[in-house]
This record gives sequence, C-alpha cells and structure tokens, in this order.
Amino acid sequence: MNMKRDFFGTTADGRQVHVFTLKNARGESARILDLGGTVQSLLIRGRGGKLIDVALGFDTPGEYLAKGGYLGAIVGRYANRIGGARFALNGKEFRLYPNDGKNHLHGGKEGFDKKVWEAEPDGGRLKLRLFSPHMDEGYPGNFGVEVTYAFSDDGGLIIDYLAKSDMDTVVNLTNHCYFNLRGCGDILSHELKINARSMLPTDAGLIPTGEIKSVEGTPFDFTEFKSIGRDIEADDPQLAVAGGYDHNFCLEEGYKKACELFCDESGILMEVFTDMPGVQFYSGNFLSGISGKGGRIYGKRFGLCLETQHYPDSVNKPHFPSPVLKAGALFRSRTVYKFGAR
Ligand code: BGC
Repeated sequence: MNMKRDFFGTTADGRQVHVFTLKNARGESARILDLGGTVQSLLIRGRGGKLIDVALGFDTPGEYLAKGGYLGAIVGRYANRIGGARFALNGKEFRLYPNDGKNHLHGGKEGFDKKVWEAEPDGGRLKLRLFSPHMDEGYPGNFGVEVTYAFSDDGGLIIDYLAKSDMDTVVNLTNHCYFNLRGCGDILSHELKINARSMLPTDAGLIPTGEIKSVEGTPFDFTEFKSIGRDIEADDPQLAVAGGYDHNFCLEEGYKKACELFCDESGILMEVFTDMPGVQFYSGNFLSGISGKGGRIYGKRFGLCLETQHYPDSVNKPHFPSPVLKAGALFRSRTVYKFGAR
C-alpha cells in the first residue's frame, strides 16, 4: 500500500482541494479527496486483470459542490433523513435545517460532504479530520470526527470512523459511494445479496413509518443473490414511494458481512462488511443524466449506494438502535468494501 498527494482544484470560494491516491499491491487504486472525504475513483481489477473505475464521481471540486448527489462523500453529522428536521434529546428540542422538503437530509445545507477536511497521510493510510462546532446545522455539541481510509493489498477499502462530542449528541456517519461494477451503463443486471430479513417501510417523504417489516415474499428479499432489475418495477407500494429501492435494511448486531454485489460482465464481486445496524440500499433513482468524470452521463440507476448507517430517523424512533453519542464517549465504527474478481 502506498500513497501520493496531488492538487485537484480550487473551489469557487478559493479553497484548495487535494487528491490522495492509495495504491495496493495488485495495482488497484482509490483516489480520495480532502473535499468531503470523497472517494473520487476506485480502479479495481476485473476478470482478466483489466482495471475498471467502479465509483461515480466528478473531475473538479466545483462540480462536487454544484451538482449534488453526495457522490462518494462522507456524510454527516447525521446521514439519511430526520423527519420534520427536528429531534429531542435530554428533554430539549433541536431544530435542523430542512433541506429535503420539511425533512433534514445528509447533515443539512453545509454538511460534512461540503467541507475540506484536514488530511494527514499515516503510513499507507489517509487520516481525515474535521471539527464541527456546537449548533452546526442545529446539532448540539462541539464535535470532532476522524475518518481513516486504507486500501489493502487484498482489495479492501477500509473506512474507520471515530467521533467525540463535549455534549450529548447524535451521530450517523456513512460513505455515499455510487458503485457501478461494470464501469458504465445502468446497474440493473448487478446481482445483490443483503443479509437482512427485514427492512423499514417509509412514508412519501422517505421517513420510516416505524414498522420493521419482514422482506419475505416481497421485492425487498435479497437474502439470496438476485438481479437488481428483477423486481424493481414490481407493483409494490414501497417501490412506488421511492421510485425504486431507497430503503434501510436491518442487519444483525456486531461486525458482519452485510451485502455482496456481483457483476457478471466484469467479474467483480464487492463484499460489504460493517458493524452498523443498517444499510441503505439506494438504486440511484434520482440520478437524472448529470455529466460526471470524463463527460460520462450518469442516468437513472447508473450507480447504486450501499450506505452503512444507523436507521434513518432513529433520533425520533426510540425502538430503533440509538444514534445517541454521550458527552466524552468515543464513537467508533468500521465499514469495509472488499473487491475481488471471479
Ligand atoms: C438517499 C436518497 C437520496 C440520495 C442523494 C440517498 O442516501 O437515500 O433518497 O436521493 O441519497 O441525496
């Protein structure tokens, strides 16, 4: 594993952005920006050794800030949605910025994806640090976060999250990579397996209703490998609500394999390991023909996200695993996206 640092570009407000290239012994590489802690590209060897870029992204900092979609970014303080953009903690109500209708999405207006993080190479790993002051976007507590990326010789993109706050607060950190294991076109023929027996139905604003529903006999059953396209157009009220898959799947406790994604055309298999209680499977329904790296057009369902996380709106659902971080306590979590060819 080795690393190099290059200039990537300047934002409209004059911030300099750098790109760090982490290379492994197989000659595969991950390019990470200090802007948003963003995975800008992931060159992975497919069947026969060909390098394929499996992550969607942009060529300039300005596009990351203007085009939206959270491509490859670290999302925080609270990934996914908070209903009514408010929550109560220790008897006090906190109001957040409503940037998704009346709800709060992915940390708000100027979330972690839009910040330039302090970057420090540490051996072959990249440490990224960010400080978020008390009441930033409405969240309580002076909050420090450190994300470490490593890219192992056996194809594992390892993401370690650490966070601490001086007041009780909430935390939900994720990476928002859009994967396409053949490097182009849509992802409907990708085969997906999710080790989850239940999922969270949502209302029209994609806020969980509170029900934890069995996937059995529904289009949400990915307990065995199934192509994403197989049931995506099925007549199902939950698919209709989100225009495809955009739901949290409930995982077992502890560190485990959460998902496997396979593309027969490239031969690339991606396994997702995490200690988080949920994973949001988002089938790229809102991608609407934006131009990405090298002028490539990203149409509807040209990438998919597997965002390891706390359940959405868990700040307002006491029966969901708690996202509360106590003052002075250390939040620690790991997610690994592991690639190999078959
Ligand atoms: C959400 C989608 C949203 C997308 C981009 C995903 O994590 O689940 O609903 O459109 O992020 O913001």
